[in-house]
Amino acid sequence: MALAERLTNLGTETAFAVSLAAADWASKGNRVYPFHLGDINLPTPGNIAEAMNRAIADGKTGYCPAAGIMPLREALAADVSSRRGLQWSPSQVVVQPGGKPVIGKFVQTVMNPGEGVLYPNPGYPIYESMIEYYGGVSLAYRYVQTDTGFAIDLDHLRSLITPSTRAIIYNNLQNPLGCESSPEEMQAIADIAIEHDLIVLADEAYFEMRYSGESHSIASLPGMQERTVLLYTFSKKFAMTGWRLGAAIAPQAIADSIAKLNTNDESCTTHFVQAAGVEGINGSQDGPKAILAELERRRDAAWGELHQIDGFVCPKPEATFYLFPKVTAVMERMGFTDVSEFATAALHQTGVSFCTRKHFGRPQPGEQDHFVRFAYSGLSVDDIHEGLSGLRRWIEAAS
Ligand SMILES: Cc1ncc(COP(=O)(O)O)c(C=O)c1O
Repeated sequence: MALAERLTNLGTETAFAVSLAAADWASKGNRVYPFHLGDINLPTPGNIAEAMNRAIADGKTGYCPAAGIMPLREALAADVSSRRGLQWSPSQVVVQPGGKPVIGKFVQTVMNPGEGVLYPNPGYPIYESMIEYYGGVSLAYRYVQTDTGFAIDLDHLRSLITPSTRAIIYNNLQNPLGCESSPEEMQAIADIAIEHDLIVLADEAYFEMRYSGESHSIASLPGMQERTVLLYTFSKKFAMTGWRLGAAIAPQAIADSIAKLNTNDESCTTHFVQAAGVEGINGSQDGPKAILAELERRRDAAWGELHQIDGFVCPKPEATFYLFPKVTAVMERMGFTDVSEFATAALHQTGVSFCTRKHFGRPQPGEQDHFVRFAYSGLSVDDIHEGLSGLRRWIEAAS
């Protein structure tokens, strides 16, 4: 059967393939430590679940406005504005079934076929997929290693810009790198956006997932709010990955276009889930605080184990729930040249399952080093210690 040609340009989240390999290994009776998927194995706070049950009992089970119910748009406008020191109106908030749909709807709204969009690489793989699916030119900007983590290679980014470049996707508090921009780096991105008249998708999925310090939004820099679309999600902060609730917060014309795409794509986001979201934003914040405190314990446990592995170079991020160590030296000592083979051997020898750099966009020409990503949000502290100490023993014994 001949399928539409444009499908050849559609990528995917290949991390899900790692899940299949891990599930296959587990089905054969093996213990698996799932560091591959950025899911959270903590319950959604009880007050949010109760609000959803109340909403169902109240009959909030039918269609609702495509852009979202007004109480949620109002709650999000107030919350997101106050955390970023800005003012957005509820009409600029367009509710989505998750944060992810914002990416494709942003691309459809701002980019014509043949135009370019800059995006981070390594980065969340859906950026590359959506740009190419909608006929754009994907402009992957890279990172360089620093003493404390990673920084955007600004010269490389600038070199990719042409007169037909329309937008830049900027994921501060970055998946998979765990890194964040210095104030100078964020200002440089803003300057580039203004100079080249680029629209910015600020993917702030992890804005509130930080253990110390304070998050800053590129939208807050002078001249930026009017050219920035924020990606907001309930998935991480409220441990609601499977509920599917998020929002785009955008200049009015873009918000209106995204709402129109909602009408075409899904009519509306589930009404009673939106009602629960209002409780998440306006209700008790004990739940999100407890989630963050537990993730910090997991971060400390995971980093504590990984940085002891001789040959792993592992920065300690203050945000997100990812660690992205360089594993080149360990692979060389163990005789691996392909990072996928290293990951498969680790799964089979130790049960530790993780993604590699290859899952986060096409590797760039000239990349020499090998990296892997550990997501520690889906394992208890005990399991983190057990799994990663086993990984360390295997590496030590084999090298
Ligand atoms: C950087 C980034 N953006 C967006 C998302 C989308 O999350 P969701 O669709 O669950 O809100 C994720 C999920 O892992 C992510 O890591």
